[in-house]
Amino acid sequence: MLDQTIIEELKIRNNIEDVISSYVRLSRAGKDLKGLCPFHSEKTPSFHVHPAEGYFHCFGCGAGGDVITFVMRAENLAYPEALEYLAKRAGIALPVDYGEGKKRDADRSLVAAMNREAAKYFHACLIDPKTPAGLDYLQKKRGFSMSLIRRFGLGYAPNGWDGLRNHLRAKGYTYEQMVTANLVQKSTKRENSYYDVFRDRVMVPIFDVGGNVVAFGGRLLSDGQPKYLNSAETPAFRKSKTLFALNFAKDHCAERMILCEGYMDAMALHGAGFPSAVATLGTAITPDHARLMSRYTKSVIICYDTDEAGKKAADKAFRILAEVGLEARILRVENAKDPDEFIKKSGAASFARLLDKSKSRFEYKLEGILSRHDPAVVDEKIKALSEITALIAEFPSSVERELYITAVSKKLEIPLKPLAEDVERVMRKNRSRQKKAFAEDVMRKTEGYADRINPQIVGNVASARAEEAILGILLLREDVTERALKEGVLCKEHFVTDFNRRVFMKIAELAEEGMPPETGLLGAYFTPEEMGRIVEMRLARSTLTDNGYTVFLTCVDRLKKGGRTSENSPEDIRAIIEKKRKGT
Ligand code: GTP
Ligand code: MN
Repeated sequence: MLDQTIIEELKIRNNIEDVISSYVRLSRAGKDLKGLCPFHSEKTPSFHVHPAEGYFHCFGCGAGGDVITFVMRAENLAYPEALEYLAKRAGIALPVDYGEGKKRDADRSLVAAMNREAAKYFHACLIDPKTPAGLDYLQKKRGFSMSLIRRFGLGYAPNGWDGLRNHLRAKGYTYEQMVTANLVQKSTKRENSYYDVFRDRVMVPIFDVGGNVVAFGGRLLSDGQPKYLNSAETPAFRKSKTLFALNFAKDHCAERMILCEGYMDAMALHGAGFPSAVATLGTAITPDHARLMSRYTKSVIICYDTDEAGKKAADKAFRILAEVGLEARILRVENAKDPDEFIKKSGAASFARLLDKSKSRFEYKLEGILSRHDPAVVDEKIKALSEITALIAEFPSSVERELYITAVSKKLEIPLKPLAEDVERVMRKNRSRQKKAFAEDVMRKTEGYADRINPQIVGNVASARAEEAILGILLLREDVTERALKEGVLCKEHFVTDFNRRVFMKIAELAEEGMPPETGLLGAYFTPEEMGRIVEMRLARSTLTDNGYTVFLTCVDRLKKGGRTSENSPEDIRAIIEKKRKGT
């Protein structure tokens, strides 16, 4: 069993400031520290660390918690794994067996071992002359060399129902364990029957940065559907956080990384001597991907397919990469649908030339605009200019805008001043639109719309706010909790929203065992996202001076009356925001 003293020791020995500093550049802001939030994309810092209290909190996305919550989110770990991580970091030994945590940890390494075994099996099948289809496909159809196939540990899942299942069974794994790893499926038709997920497919192992096999992508050898079958997500495998081939690319990409759409593209590039290529796993690029890349490189060259979807995706990639401060450029292959086909047709040397000719977002978009509107025709030139001013207005840096305005003025023979004025006008319009959107967003939030953590706030705003005030006080004041429970002034039935009720019950439970509602202890029962909300409730109250029993009773009273007071109805808040908006 884990107890409070161990959590306390973990937190003392893992100073929150030190731990977070290795992920986020923090600067001092009074007695706090602040920096750019590692959990959402932002340009101005709203991520705060309060070292004295041992908390972090982001005003932008609502992430928050203690050092344990932080490593859970940053390293994608479950609570017990986070404890172990911190114990290791501080050189503390945890009690040998503390239940659940050990089990989950064991699960994860078991799945890793099983995946490794499966990858070995698939590879053996690939080179087995009895099942030549996979190797044939890779060598003849895709032009992959044997050394490339070996480097990526490629394999073949033969066309049968139980090849892998029986192999893993012989290695001592149970069917349930195989199901956990998404390698085997339970039959819905027949009781106690299990069959292989991947059949007659070329198998691409997906490695994490540390080189563990976390999933597989299986490609059909012919033109059927679905072309790829990918492992389902697990806590150890999130597509939005995984980049294919990053385990190889990470040592070759300090200057630049090449980002493709497909596994095959990334592998073809590695094979052609471009080891800095990575690919997303069939999903659009996410901010998590971008942050992951920014750990290893400063510049990313987007090298997507040439179809419409690829163009759209490139636009999105530009934005997401820029948001984390990465330099992004784009490379368009010519006369081929994707980089893989281009290499096959035109060779590595041509690709290297394209790499050097890659374009910035501005150059790329400008080229597109001018290809759609011929500047030799007056009306078309006007259309082009209106798109160009809108494009320039999107760049937050005034230096960049200056440079682009000068360049366009020269290229299209337009005087500088009116061009600059047009850009300024578009920016003003954008700003007022943003302000309006922001105000609307605040309003929606105040009314609790789209609140993922506590969806019941909608329609119960007043009660929910009263609950939050109550919980904030209970989180801060152990003495108030104790007295409230003893006098029986508040019980779980008074709560209107399930999430807040759940928080209350945990606090009460801990109190009954004589323990404080410490985040380190609550973290075992709530997700990191929920912890963010809990910390928020506590912080909201900690800035107020009076959180005593009398104030507490007032809040309880308010909750019992349905949360109503005179001054905070949603209508009032809406009116206040509306007034502010008109005033600015
Ligand atoms: P080839 O068509 O063999 O050249 O593969 P590719 O890697 O170039 O794939 P493509 O450009 O068609 O798609 C890009 C990525 O999307 C793939 O690498 C997969 O990760 C994913 N993907 C493509 N098709 C499917 C599908 O049918 N199902 C799933 N789950 N993912 C797919
Ligand atoms: Mn392809």
